[in-house]
Amino acid sequence: MRETTYGRVGETERAAFRAGPVDGESAERLAANGLDYRRLAVDSDEYVGWLQSVARGFQDGERTAEQIAASRERSGYRRLTGVFDPESPMDAPVATIASWLGELTVPGEAMIPSCAISAVTVAPTHRRKGVARAMLEGELRAAHAAGVPMAMLTVSESPLYGRYGFAPAAAGASWRIETKRAGWIGPQPAGRIDFISRERVRELMPALHERVRHRRAGEIDVPHSHWDGFAGTNPAAEKTAEKRAVQYTDADGDVRGAAVYAVRENHDDFTKATVSVHYLLAETDDAYAALWRFLLELDLVAEVHAGELSVDEPLLWMIADQRAAKVSVRDHQYVRILDVVAALETRRYGGPGALVLDVSDPLGIAAGRYLLEVDESGAGRVRALGGEVAEGVTVMLGVAELSATYLGGVSLATLAAAGRVTVAGAGDGASDPLTIATRVLGWHTAPRLSIWY
Ligand SMILES: CC(C)(COP(=O)(O)OP(=O)(O)OC[C@H]1O[C@@H](n2cnc3c(N)ncnc32)[C@H](O)[C@@H]1OP(=O)(O)O)[C@@H](O)C(=O)NCCC(=O)NCCS
Repeated sequence: MRETTYGRVGETERAAFRAGPVDGESAERLAANGLDYRRLAVDSDEYVGWLQSVARGFQDGERTAEQIAASRERSGYRRLTGVFDPESPMDAPVATIASWLGELTVPGEAMIPSCAISAVTVAPTHRRKGVARAMLEGELRAAHAAGVPMAMLTVSESPLYGRYGFAPAAAGASWRIETKRAGWIGPQPAGRIDFISRERVRELMPALHERVRHRRAGEIDVPHSHWDGFAGTNPAAEKTAEKRAVQYTDADGDVRGAAVYAVRENHDDFTKATVSVHYLLAETDDAYAALWRFLLELDLVAEVHAGELSVDEPLLWMIADQRAAKVSVRDHQYVRILDVVAALETRRYGGPGALVLDVSDPLGIAAGRYLLEVDESGAGRVRALGGEVAEGVTVMLGVAELSATYLGGVSLATLAAAGRVTVAGAGDGASDPLTIATRVLGWHTAPRLSIWY
C-alpha cells in the first residue's frame, strides 16, 4: 500500500468525528419547522427509538430486544443523528442518519479518509418537506468542516443523491451462473479447500480483507459488525444456520482465501439447488480460482448467484461457456469529493499531462478552478487557481462528474459523449484535448466495492 499525505484514519480521528457537532445551518432550518436535529449516544435510551425508526424507514419489522442489544453492541463506530418532532406521540425520531469516518481505496493503492453515510430515513409522516436534504447537506458540511476530504454511500434508490454532488463511481455486478453449462477451464491450484466453522471464518475475514482491500479502488475498511453479518455469527441474525464456510490453504500451508455461501434446495428437483455466495475473499489468484471452482462444481447445484462483483471479473475467463453467466450491472459505490486538492493528490493517474479542472458544486463546497499536473510516474500535484489564468486543456464539470471518474469507473470520454462534461483547449499535436484529459484521468482497473453499508 502507498503512503500519502492524507493517509490512514486513526481511532482518535474516528472518535473526534463521531463526537463532532451537527451542522448549524441545517439545525436552524429544521428548527424553523419545529424539528430538533441532534446527535444521540449508542448507549442512551434514545438509541432504541432511533433503531426502530431506521427499521421502519426501510420497511422492515420492529426490532426485538435481542436484536437491539446486538445492534447496540456493534454500533459504537457510528455517529448517530436524529430529527425529533416534539409533537410526535412516539418516543422515536422522525428522521435518522448515521455516518462514520472510514478509508476509501483510490487508484494507485492508496487510501483516503472518507465519511461513510448510512441509515438515511425520513418517516412517511414527514416526507418530502426537505428533511432528508437538511440531513444530507448537514452531514456533508459537518464532514467538510472536520477536514474530511471525501464522502461515500450505497443507495436504496438511484435518483436520491446526485443533487448533493454524489455520483455512482464503482459499479457492482450480479452474476447468475448455470453451473452445468459453465465448464471450468481455469487453473486448478495445488492448495486445498476445507470447510471451517462460522466462528473461524469470522476470525479469518477481517485479516484477509485488510491484506487485499488496498489493491482495488472503491473498497473500504469494513465495519466489524458487517463481518458478523457475513459469517452468520451475529446472535440476533436470522437464518445463520444455512451459512457454510470454506477456506483455501495454498501449497505452502498459508490460508489465502475464504468464502461464505448458502444453499437453497429445490424440492421439485434435487439436482437443481441454488447457491448464494455471501462473501468471497481471495488474496491470491490461486485462492480465487480454487474457491470459484469449488462453488461451481458443488453437487446437486444448478445455479450459483453472487453479487457485488466487479465488472471485470477474471471468473468470466475461467469458464468455457461465457453465456452460462448472466451478468447484470448497476450503480453501487457512490462517492462525493469534498476537498478537490486532497482527493486528486491522493489518487494516481493513467498518464502524464496538465489539466485545468473547472468544478461546479451545488453545495459550493468543492467549487473552484484547479490545476492538476501529473508526472511520468502517474503522481498528481494540484493547486487551486482562483482567478489565475492557466494554459492547457480545461475540463468543465460538476463535482458529481469529477466524483464519477475519480475511482476510474467511467472515462471522461464517456461522460463527454453523454453531455455531462465539456473539454476545451488545444491538443498537443498527437492528441485532441478530450483524448488527453481522458488518458490522464483514466485508470487501468475497474473499481469495485464488495459490501453494502
Ligand atoms: C428517501 C427519503 C430519505 C427522502 O426523504 P425526504 O425527507 O422525503 O426527502 P426531501 O423532502 O428532503 O427531498 C430532497 C430531494 O430529494 C427528492 N426526492 C426525495 N425522495 C425521492 C425519491 N424517492 N426519488 C426521487 N427523488 C426524491 C425530492 O424531490 C427533493 O428534491 P429537491 O430538493 O432537489 O427538489 C425518504 O423517502 C425515505 O426514508 N425513504 C425510505 C428509506 C430510503 O430509501 N432511504 C435512503 C437510503 S439510501
